[in-house]
Amino acid sequence: MEHNVFDIPRRLKWLEASAEGRAWLRDLPARVQACVDQWALRPEPPYTESYVSLVLPVTQSDQTPAVLKLQFPHPESEHEAEALRRWNGQGAVRLFADEPKYYALLIEKCEPGDPLSGIARDEALEALTEILPRLWIEADKPFVSLHEESAKWAEHLPSSWERAGRPFEMELLDSALQAIHDLRESPGQPVLVNQDLHGDNVLRAQRERWLVIDPKPLGSGRDYGHSPRPWLGPSSLNALWTSMSKPRAGFAMRDYRIQPV
Ligand SMILES: Nc1ncnc2c1ncn2[C@@H]1O[C@H](COP(=O)(O)OP(=O)(O)O)[C@@H](O)[C@H]1O
Ligand SMILES: [Mg+2]
Repeated sequence: MEHNVFDIPRRLKWLEASAEGRAWLRDLPARVQACVDQWALRPEPPYTESYVSLVLPVTQSDQTPAVLKLQFPHPESEHEAEALRRWNGQGAVRLFADEPKYYALLIEKCEPGDPLSGIARDEALEALTEILPRLWIEADKPFVSLHEESAKWAEHLPSSWERAGRPFEMELLDSALQAIHDLRESPGQPVLVNQDLHGDNVLRAQRERWLVIDPKPLGSGRDYGHSPRPWLGPSSLNALWTSMSKPRAGFAMRDYRIQPV
């Protein structure tokens, strides 16, 4: 790849809608170059699957493959590097280096790197069952607690539901709020949990069979760590969606989320 010349993945186009997003997109080539210089990397064209970051395969000066990730700054990903550092390669990709001034992470590359979402559900569950307990390590500062974070979810959910034109029954909203309330009481010694653990964020690798990437870490009792999206894969979410009685004209299930079409 010629330095500074790469196509912005299509899935990042949503960032053009805000001033912050446009500024981030505009500065990306310079940031990629700064990281390439700082860590002596040879970059290749970016992966196309990122949604809140730019991720490029790179080769380090000792020929070790790696991945350069530039995050779009967001509170949920603020401690991504720290979570990877603490996991120290146990069940998750290793962090080789990070540079907070560029929101940049240099991480171990998963090869062949195909996602857990692409294999049979039973097999995927088995893989996650092996990985999850190893990720539950002590979580003290700087991680935000689930208690704090879920208070924000409970605050925003009803207004998002209204703004979206009440796309599903109020009962489902109430169940979600109840579930959030129950989660807040999640018992036990806080451990590191990952609120973005889904089938596209676990990749096939060599050092271990599967490795977790892209954590959005929180500190919580263990319950939350094994309850969210990994168990609710796309097929069960689709089933839930289809089973709701109200017609949902104008909405579809995409990227595990209910979105306008
Ligand atoms: N360590 C890695 N090894 C191989 N591929 C990776 C790695 N990290 C990310 N990728 C690729 O880049 C894509 C986006 O990365 P991800 O960290 O999930 O970005 P986002 O935070 O935008 O979701 C992944 O779906 C995968 O295809
Ligand atoms: Mg991801």
